[in-house]
Amino acid sequence: MKIFLNRRLPEIGMKLLADNNIQLIQPDKNELSYQEWLYYCQQADGIINVGKNKFDRYFFEQCPQIKAISLFSVGYNHVDIQAATARKIAIGNTPNVLSKATSDTAFLLMQSVARRASFNYDRVRKGNWELILDPMANLGQELYGKTVGIYGLGRIGYEFAKKCKYAFDMNIIYHNRSRNEAAEKELGAIFVPFEQLIKDADILSVHANYTNNQKELFNASIFKQMKSNSIFINTARGEFHNEEDLYTAVNEQLIWGVGLDVTNPEPMLPTSKLLNLPTVCVLPHIGSATIEARNGMAQLAAENIIAFVRGDKMPYLVNNDIYTL
Ligand code: DGY
Repeated sequence: MKIFLNRRLPEIGMKLLADNNIQLIQPDKNELSYQEWLYYCQQADGIINVGKNKFDRYFFEQCPQIKAISLFSVGYNHVDIQAATARKIAIGNTPNVLSKATSDTAFLLMQSVARRASFNYDRVRKGNWELILDPMANLGQELYGKTVGIYGLGRIGYEFAKKCKYAFDMNIIYHNRSRNEAAEKELGAIFVPFEQLIKDADILSVHANYTNNQKELFNASIFKQMKSNSIFINTARGEFHNEEDLYTAVNEQLIWGVGLDVTNPEPMLPTSKLLNLPTVCVLPHIGSATIEARNGMAQLAAENIIAFVRGDKMPYLVNNDIYTL
């Protein structure tokens, strides 16, 4: 069985694959055109995929021999799960191992925006120390005792909520498909309707799995209802928010600021007006980019494909339905 790996994994994953005699197809360059990528996929029985390549109906028609896709990500919004399941193609992902790193990133963004840190860092880089120590200049806001609203209280949301609670004694409110009893018990988290989440949150942080029916859910009509001191954080998927509307909301001081690790479009254009605002921090989708998290992801991605090659169920299978069809 041949497995197409589009980018080299951290060594722990490569070693696991080699130790299990997984026969890899590896291109000699990292950046492939869509046609090149498709060509490699057509040579394989299974795939380990790094990045956002789209696995849609067209892909499955072009690669009817593919039987398994092991994603090097926890998110799987780039896969048409229904189409894959209908074809009994196993889809694996990498949950848990990146929850701490991704929630750390949300926490970092929250603080950076509250204290205008990245804007001020940029001033220092440019030698602009104007108004230093002026009593009224460069003022941020403190987070102690504020209310954090979490949209999507799963594994990453829970880790973020813990940091907010234990570092700043924040009140946790959340909106989710289902109740998170552990968070309610441990952190005193309170489940609220979506409308209340956006109205009551001082910090609104998105941690849900993205699906197409949530496209630009966070837009002008939502930002208008948020508090004027509020901060919008997105470390999930850029498609969740409308970036023009975010700019207007911050620029017109409808909300305090924005912290993004994911953008819409991604990559963000360097001309984005958001980048000129003092209460904005934007990172280039580095949520899971720690040595620890990426090693964990490499291990899980390798374990998923090894299980498939052995004829076993992937340990981190997204579409369990393939076994009940
Ligand atoms: C994930 O794992 O989903 C991260 O966003 C990287 O794509």
